[in-house]
Amino acid sequence: MKVKAPGRINIIGEHTDYNDGYVLPFAVDRYVFLSIERAEKYIFRSETMNETVEMDELKKLNSWTDYIVGVIKSFEKRGCRVPPVKIEVSSNLPMGAGLSSSAALEVATAFAISEYFGFNLPKLELVKISREAEVEFVGVRCGVMDQFTSAFGKEDHAIFLDTMTLNYEYVPLKLEGYEINLVDSNVKHELSSSEYNKRRQECEEVLRLLGKRSFREVKVDELNKLSTVLRKRAKHVLEENKRVLKSVEALKEGDFETLGKLLFDSHESLRNLYEVSCEETDFIVDFLREKSGILGARMVGGGFGGGVIVLSGKGTFEDIKEELFKAYKEKFGIELSFFQIESADGVQKI
Ligand code: GLA
Repeated sequence: MKVKAPGRINIIGEHTDYNDGYVLPFAVDRYVFLSIERAEKYIFRSETMNETVEMDELKKLNSWTDYIVGVIKSFEKRGCRVPPVKIEVSSNLPMGAGLSSSAALEVATAFAISEYFGFNLPKLELVKISREAEVEFVGVRCGVMDQFTSAFGKEDHAIFLDTMTLNYEYVPLKLEGYEINLVDSNVKHELSSSEYNKRRQECEEVLRLLGKRSFREVKVDELNKLSTVLRKRAKHVLEENKRVLKSVEALKEGDFETLGKLLFDSHESLRNLYEVSCEETDFIVDFLREKSGILGARMVGGGFGGGVIVLSGKGTFEDIKEELFKAYKEKFGIELSFFQIESADGVQKI
């Protein structure tokens, strides 16, 4: 049996998904493709890595197989035994670009196992299994956005998700005269996962100090009780949530100018308050801010490298791309990659 699960791009709502906040992602038309069949032992093959790994016992290798093994472990925790299987994966999703190839791999694995062995779990349970794999087995304490989007994506729509209740609404993504591109900075700084977990701890500390159970109860005027660093983190979360709500309205009204400004504001907040940006992605955003035809840009995903989402008028990014490529190469000696992004449906059989 074969399945495919898409990556995701987040329009806005960064570092809010583990703070009971709002996000506005959509599934992208790039996928992890996965086939599954019974085997004598566990055999995992990645075309992209050009590597085959065989295991009699499931174990952690600190490698791409952890995403698959983690998902199998999560099934087993729920009493769903997964006998030895051969799983082959290939992908046209760039890795480390902020499109969440790891969540796509987890969701593809979870869906394939559920269908192949007749567990037929609801999509939301697959999301939980996938996230649990990442948090408990891989060791990144991520929120729910990436796995949710890979499972629930819908073509021509973004997902306005409340990560506290998991209520969601599909918001039409009618780009028409506009387009969305992803610029991959092609850098991924080592600190990304340790700093990610550190931000989570800082946010937990904010709640502890303020005596709140959820960020939804935190008010701006309470933040002065916090240290400078914690105040900055909390301010980002509160303001980013507001930006998501405004972005949903802007998208519904087809007001891409406003949406673009919100993207730039989000980047500034991620740079100055949440401090998860880096020199390379700042350079890209600052460069684009000066160009007419570019409505907005900001870093996407966890940060410390990865991608920048760019909202522009249709066709206007084409020339700017070349200028940006040259300037970035001159500054950092690194070549950028560009991807034009369309929305897509969530995980499915092929
Ligand atoms: C990573 C995580 C997500 C989310 C983003 C930041 O992509 O996997 O859950 O927290 O970072 O918004």
